[in-house]
Amino acid sequence: MAQATIRFPRGFLWGTATAAHQVEGNNTNNNWWAWEQQEGRILQGHKSGLACDWWGGRWKEDLDRAAEAGQNAHRFSIEWSRIQPTPDQWDETALERYRSILRGMHERGLMPMVTLHHFSNPIWLEEQGGWENDDTPAKFAAFVRKAVDALKEYVSHWVTINEPNVYAYAAFNEGVFPPGKRNIGSTFHVMLNLVRAHAMAYKIIHEIQPESRVGLAMNYLSIFPATASPLDRFVAGVQSTIYNDLFPRAARDGKVNFMYRTVRIPEAAHTQDFLGINYYSRNVASFDLRAVSTLFGRMKHPEGVEESATGFIANVPEGFYEAMKWGLQFNVPMIVTENGVEDHEDKMRPRYIVQHIQQMWRAVNFNWPVKGYFHWSLVDNFEWERGWTQRFGLWGLDIETQARIRRNSVDLYADICKENGLSSAMVEKYCPEILARIFPD
Ligand code: BGC
Repeated sequence: MAQATIRFPRGFLWGTATAAHQVEGNNTNNNWWAWEQQEGRILQGHKSGLACDWWGGRWKEDLDRAAEAGQNAHRFSIEWSRIQPTPDQWDETALERYRSILRGMHERGLMPMVTLHHFSNPIWLEEQGGWENDDTPAKFAAFVRKAVDALKEYVSHWVTINEPNVYAYAAFNEGVFPPGKRNIGSTFHVMLNLVRAHAMAYKIIHEIQPESRVGLAMNYLSIFPATASPLDRFVAGVQSTIYNDLFPRAARDGKVNFMYRTVRIPEAAHTQDFLGINYYSRNVASFDLRAVSTLFGRMKHPEGVEESATGFIANVPEGFYEAMKWGLQFNVPMIVTENGVEDHEDKMRPRYIVQHIQQMWRAVNFNWPVKGYFHWSLVDNFEWERGWTQRFGLWGLDIETQARIRRNSVDLYADICKENGLSSAMVEKYCPEILARIFPD
């Protein structure tokens, strides 16, 4: 077989992504910590606990690993409840801690990308009604002003809100994230507040730092109708309009489209300098009159597709290509802010990485403006309501001892980052079973 290498443009960002509550440990002052103390909320009663002990300083060793593995960027989030522990108090020592983490990234040659909201809220905010309260966007904006002002020296790329679609659905519709509501009206209401909060944050960041790049990180779900029936096609369309399109279109046009009504938020227009895409999987949607809360759609993985260890992710790399094609409509650069798979034994991950990088290469070859890729994640971390049952890290984590366990994917991803590309030799070494598909004769 001929040797070949597919390459990415010079300056392409290669990194990993993490989030505060998932890696820091001891985030005792946020809604997730409180949620974890309630029985039945987290699978097997797991708790975030010390997580990856980043707050205790282990970010240093993990970022050493990232830099040694050829990465040139890292996406992480800052924890609102640490910076503003009570409504009228700013914790300067927490900000200083984040400043030293950011300096640590620069010292290691990692360009930081900072997420300002990644699923967790201060307990005080939650007690005031959280994202259902129409005052919350302004409170978020005050936090953003404080944080951006303190960290601006080190940061040029900001994600205002991570996956506002997932947050609104999981917390207010499915009830698996705090506050555990199951109400489609609340879900839509929260979506509006998230759009407002994003717009305010965008304006504030640009006021403080005109040259900065600000965007949302959207979870893009590839949604197909289960059959060719008009009803299945209709619900697939509804699901993807609300789940995928609503936020980035609002940030483009200032209009929030719920299908049955459109709400204008003019200040949200033109508030994305890049589109962050988090891509994991595909679902098929079928019409079901009983599925009122999910807009008459039932979702499941397509038949016959490879699934991850716990069945959480369907390995559909073409869906990733589709995500980037979809992203073109927003006319801004795209950054893959998350992509990865839970796989404790690292059997599927090498294949998943290679197949997805190949799809990204197809996109880049059409000159689509994809500027970087952040793998989820650097090290196993606390997987929300799924606790520690799912392992997304390139590095494994022993939560008892804090030991890091090197998986084969560490070396595969390092080879990709260092080469700024993917070679047939890499595929042959790490997942020979797909060599002929990735590099056909
Ligand atoms: C979230 C991450 C999460 C990952 C895997 C994404 O939806 O942004 O926080 O760990 O999915 O479940």
